[in-house]
Amino acid sequence: MSGPGSYTAGAPASVRISGWGSYVPERVLSNTDLERIVDTSDEWIRTRTGISQRRVAAPHETTATLGAIAAKRAVAVAGLSPDDIDVIVVATLTPDYPMPSTAVLVKEAIGNSTAAAFDVAAACSGFVYGYATADAFVRSGMARHVLVVGAELLTRFIDFSDRSTCILFGDGAGAVVLSASDEGGGGLAGLEMTTDPDGAYMIWLPSGGSRSPSSIETARRGEHFIRMEGRETYRYATRTLAASALAAIARAGWEPAEVDLFIPHQANIRIIEAVARGLRLPMEKMVVNIDRYGNTSAASVGIALDEAVRGGRVKPGDKLVLFAFGAGFTSGAAAITWTADPAHSARSDDVRPVASVRAPLDWASVDPMPPRLAAVLADPGGPPVPLDDVIPGDPAPAHLEEQP
Ligand code: ACO
Repeated sequence: MSGPGSYTAGAPASVRISGWGSYVPERVLSNTDLERIVDTSDEWIRTRTGISQRRVAAPHETTATLGAIAAKRAVAVAGLSPDDIDVIVVATLTPDYPMPSTAVLVKEAIGNSTAAAFDVAAACSGFVYGYATADAFVRSGMARHVLVVGAELLTRFIDFSDRSTCILFGDGAGAVVLSASDEGGGGLAGLEMTTDPDGAYMIWLPSGGSRSPSSIETARRGEHFIRMEGRETYRYATRTLAASALAAIARAGWEPAEVDLFIPHQANIRIIEAVARGLRLPMEKMVVNIDRYGNTSAASVGIALDEAVRGGRVKPGDKLVLFAFGAGFTSGAAAITWTADPAHSARSDDVRPVASVRAPLDWASVDPMPPRLAAVLADPGGPPVPLDDVIPGDPAPAHLEEQP
């Protein structure tokens, strides 16, 4: 058994991205579809968020299966075999289970038998936090190749009767491999990470933890869905995102204008535009795909990076900034110098978009699809879907109906 503890080659000359990959589910949920579920409009969603559509995982898919496909692609692009990976870090706020970690399931699904695997919980900042964790493992000499996966299946944690949240989120996964290199230069040049507990309850999922364990009552109160103070989060994001990017750029010894490409978390096009204005840079320097995928939380930076490389927007020597903010509040920015040959993307062309994740032995889950979402997807172009109770036919007590 090798693993992070048994790698003893010492600190490398540099730590570089060697592989990249992403995966989004096939099923598309458009704004027009959402008009059938909640009181909203395509026009409102597009102008207030920049989102036109998002992807929805199929019933057989889970966060681990999405992550495993992105991971297999990243390992293939790196030209490695799965057992070359020493550590697997999965960033997610929508794990398959509270335990085991989603990383454990991804490890087996990609065919790795040697790595240490664990999850990172930093919400939408998870990809940057995961990147920083991986870089530290390789930089210190504790690991040679670390796989970072951001994977989310947010559509299973959303109240599809709450128009302020259900329009925002989508499913997907992005991944990179960080590897030790004998050549100096390249990789992480500047890092900034902040955590502000004042925002602890601005985006949260109230129940299912030690403060409020799962019960019929918590289900009735809709407390297993994401809640968000949109305006406060928006204010925090516009304040912090640009500041995080600037701090990472300053630590790298760069000027903002020297950066070739910014890869921001995709939460709201207006937030990305505000960052571009704040940095006095044109929008062409920002990677934007929120129109197609919505907010995929910890997956969004990884998906955007993969698309940018495959789309020919990145070349060796380019200066990139990956940056994000999210629940916590957390924020993070990584200023990196790209070194890999983008043509290596083609190495993952043969990786089929399927992942086999170990199933429990004597337990079957409930139907994982939210009923209102399933109703819309089952009947494209059909009539509006009526509001139903969280638990049909079992009215909530009066004091619970006062809950927001
Ligand atoms: N359709 C139509 N109207 C709506 C909708 C909707 N889907 N949602 C809200 N409205 C209404 C509101 O009820 C309100 O109506 P009122 O004026 O009659 O009260 C009006 O639109 C304006 O509401 P605001 O909340 O002020 O709308 P805003 O322009 O702020 O946009 C949004 C809301 C999109 C949520 C925005 O605040 C935002 O993007 N916030 C940041 C969210 C975010 O970035 N989250 C990322 C972190 S997530 C994570 O870490 C998991």
